[in-house]
Amino acid sequence: MAAYCRDHALALRPHVKTHKSLRVASEQVARGAGGLTCATPRETEVMSEVTPDLLLHHPILGSKLQRVMSLPRSANVIVALDSAEAIDRLSDAAQAAERDVGVYVEVDLGMHRVGVQSTDDVIALARRSCERPRLRFAGVTFYPGHIREHVREQQDKFERLRSDLEALLDAMEVAGCPPPVLSGGSTPLAWRAHELPMVREVRPGTYVYNDRTTAEIGACEWDDCALTVLATVVSTAVPGQAVVDAGSKALGREPMRGVEGEGFGALLDHPEVTVQRMSEEHGVLDLSSTSWRPRVGEQVRIVPNHVCVVVHLNDAIHGVRGDEVVESWTVSARGRGAVPAGAGLLG
Ligand SMILES: Cc1ncc(COP(=O)(O)O)c(C=O)c1O
Repeated sequence: MAAYCRDHALALRPHVKTHKSLRVASEQVARGAGGLTCATPRETEVMSEVTPDLLLHHPILGSKLQRVMSLPRSANVIVALDSAEAIDRLSDAAQAAERDVGVYVEVDLGMHRVGVQSTDDVIALARRSCERPRLRFAGVTFYPGHIREHVREQQDKFERLRSDLEALLDAMEVAGCPPPVLSGGSTPLAWRAHELPMVREVRPGTYVYNDRTTAEIGACEWDDCALTVLATVVSTAVPGQAVVDAGSKALGREPMRGVEGEGFGALLDHPEVTVQRMSEEHGVLDLSSTSWRPRVGEQVRIVPNHVCVVVHLNDAIHGVRGDEVVESWTVSARGRGAVPAGAGLLG
């Protein structure tokens, strides 16, 4: 990813929600990531050890504002948001903390999660962020999370995205407030970001480990799935199935997204075998489409549907070569972290 971004003069700001690990973040920065993207205050706190350049891609309010204002003064923080309220509260918090904060205005280009709905609203929030004390309009951001179909079938949505971006930037130019940065990108679109020439910064996250969904949509190969959950077969008593010691508390209850697919993960070495049902600590492997019959005690490696949630559920990631564990990384930014003393939880 670093090489791709270098080749296409794109700034790489990987999303750390996938790994939540200082070790992986340090490698990303050493290989050329100019900054990091975070989703929670906890992630910004942990990742401030690795880089001063932090984008919090979440419209924070309340006690989260105080936490972000308590980051080391060396941290150059940008917050992505989509409302006048969020701008005003951020400005109030920044004034109280006597620090400057950047603002990305988020626009909705099809995902319909967050993001303002019109060009006029983008321009209005850009202007508001220029006017409010201690804030700096740092750019416009979008997340193309609605483009999740197989890479062969993305073209129509991709063309629509490109024309919407062109229209947005033209309008901002005419209004006299061109964004200093246009930030976008995701893993399913990672290798096509250069086809959106106006995008200056990309924020892929999942690419760092990949997962079953990413492989199924053709955005990576099965062999590119770097993270698996190691589980042990603990029961074969019920015919037609085997039970492993990894359930929803290890794998997450994440459906496949964008493409058809049964179950909550598939075996690395037997991709036709899926985790069909789960309890908290049990995963039921469906053996109906395989002649493979595991023994009790046998270990299997499960490629999860959605790796980011799995990382969040586990304390450590073990680096394995062959059968040897060569290093272990703590998932340092998992969880919510402590609220600083004196910071009210409400309000
Ligand atoms: C705002 C934002 N940017 C970037 C990403 C990274 O996307 P992906 O995991 O597809 O690489 C996400 C993922 O949820 C996101 O929410």
